[in-house]
Amino acid sequence: MKKPIKIKPFWYSDVWLFPKLVTVITTLDKQGRVNAAPYSHIMQYDVMHKKPRMILGFRQDSHTFENINATGEFVINCPPASHLDDVMETARFYPEGVNELEHTRFTPIPSTKVRPPSLKECPQIAECTVDEIIRLEKSSGIVIANIVAILVEEGLEEMGREERIRAMNLPIGLGDADRVDYFYGIMDNIVSYKLKEVPESYAATASMKTSLPWDDDAMAALMKIPPFVRKMVLGQVEKHARGKGADRVTHQHMTDLAAEFGMDEAVLARFGAKEKA
Ligand SMILES: Cc1cc2nc3c(=O)[nH]c(=O)nc-3n(C[C@H](O)[C@H](O)[C@H](O)COP(=O)(O)O)c2cc1C
Repeated sequence: MKKPIKIKPFWYSDVWLFPKLVTVITTLDKQGRVNAAPYSHIMQYDVMHKKPRMILGFRQDSHTFENINATGEFVINCPPASHLDDVMETARFYPEGVNELEHTRFTPIPSTKVRPPSLKECPQIAECTVDEIIRLEKSSGIVIANIVAILVEEGLEEMGREERIRAMNLPIGLGDADRVDYFYGIMDNIVSYKLKEVPESYAATASMKTSLPWDDDAMAALMKIPPFVRKMVLGQVEKHARGKGADRVTHQHMTDLAAEFGMDEAVLARFGAKEKA
């Protein structure tokens, strides 16, 4: 049995459970003094790479929001679970102008593209500038942020997903009780599930017939495309290759056709195609 509940202020951390990213945002005030505080109201906004953006929500009278308004810059630092006590230290209501980092084990280091510092101990960092600020009436200040740089600890990028998740050891924010007790999940139990294809897509792939020979890398790229469009793409790539007078399908034909559909090499790379250096 389910029962409806009353939607109260701070519903997202009240009854509704919302596992979230835990970050420490670093900013500078107008005088150039450092401020740091934890924030979890963060999501990807534009997921594509041309203008990658995040969306964040702040209490409008927070120092962080005021500083972002004043300077247009900030850094989103993702701390490991081993630094949760430092995260909580930066959440305390220190007076304006106090550098919370001085009360923690976090080490400020220069950022690459913005003036506020980054935090050395954080394995994943996004340097941001303001794209748009929306002040919701009697509610949050929403910042749509341009991501001007993403930095990760050396070695992480090369790891497989599970090893990387373990190495980063990011806590999961699980909300608070009365804005005093904060709850976190620690990643000591990671599960992974294989996404299976639906039976119909096996059948569709099985019934795919090529009418030209394909280079191995072109076929490998085709097989990375979602199964339900594979057959259609196969036909179009072969038509495109024939139009070019080719007698076999190469990886370049796949790339050229994708470009015609507005997909650049970086998008194709998500489907396992090669990206030029
Ligand atoms: C894990 C965690 C996540 C938080 N997320 C947010 C948030 O997304 N938005 C917000 O306004 N306050 C959030 N807070 C509360 C602020 O961190 C807190 O009000 C802080 O004192 C603000 O500092 P500032 O005035 O220096 O920005 C969070 C606190 C914690 C501990």
